[in-house]
Amino acid sequence: MDPVFLVMRLLHVCFGVFWVGVIVFAATMLMPSVRDTGPDGGKVMLALLRRGYMTILPVAALLTIVSGFWMYMKLMSTIGPVWAGSMSARVYGLGAAAAVVAYGLGFFIIRANALKLRVLMEALPNTPEGPARAALMEQMAGPRARMAAISPWVAGLLIIATITMAIGRYV
Ligand code: HEM
Repeated sequence: MDPVFLVMRLLHVCFGVFWVGVIVFAATMLMPSVRDTGPDGGKVMLALLRRGYMTILPVAALLTIVSGFWMYMKLMSTIGPVWAGSMSARVYGLGAAAAVVAYGLGFFIIRANALKLRVLMEALPNTPEGPARAALMEQMAGPRARMAAISPWVAGLLIIATITMAIGRYV
């Protein structure tokens, strides 16, 4: 096998597993637990963001997408147009579309709202109890609700992408 293809495949599978695993864990376990634990959960979110959660994840996702498209184009150019019309190519294509939409929702909605939330959470310790604090808490509700509403969709799309990747070769 072409060693470059092998490296791309390795990057693709490793970063893809990381991306889907983190998102499914976050949507089904982490975010509901953060919600249930109130202000303490907020501190966990802040610590995650400070560790670069919202930088590492989009980079891993982008590497998955770029390596996937690279392999797709490589298969198309080596096998030829016959491959492009095959069921395998269509199934990989469907998964790729689901992954790209998941990336867009994750980046432009979840990440954008998480960064807004970070600014608000960082202001919290310096805000005295009273109306100012209550207003800050109220401002946090919007980004939190948007993240919670979109996360299951992103997880669902990534599960679709994983299923199509798992069966693509054999259909
Ligand atoms: C959630 C995102 C993704 C995950 C978890 C993922 C995972 C995988 C896995 C595990 C394989 C190996 C399947 C096997 O050996 O039978 C694979 C193959 C493949 N993926 Fe993805 N993938 C993702 C997104 C994408 C995207 C966006 C593309 C872009 C076109 C893509 C294109 C491909 C192609 C062409 C192959 C076949 C490679 C080969 O024949 O060796 N994938 N993917």
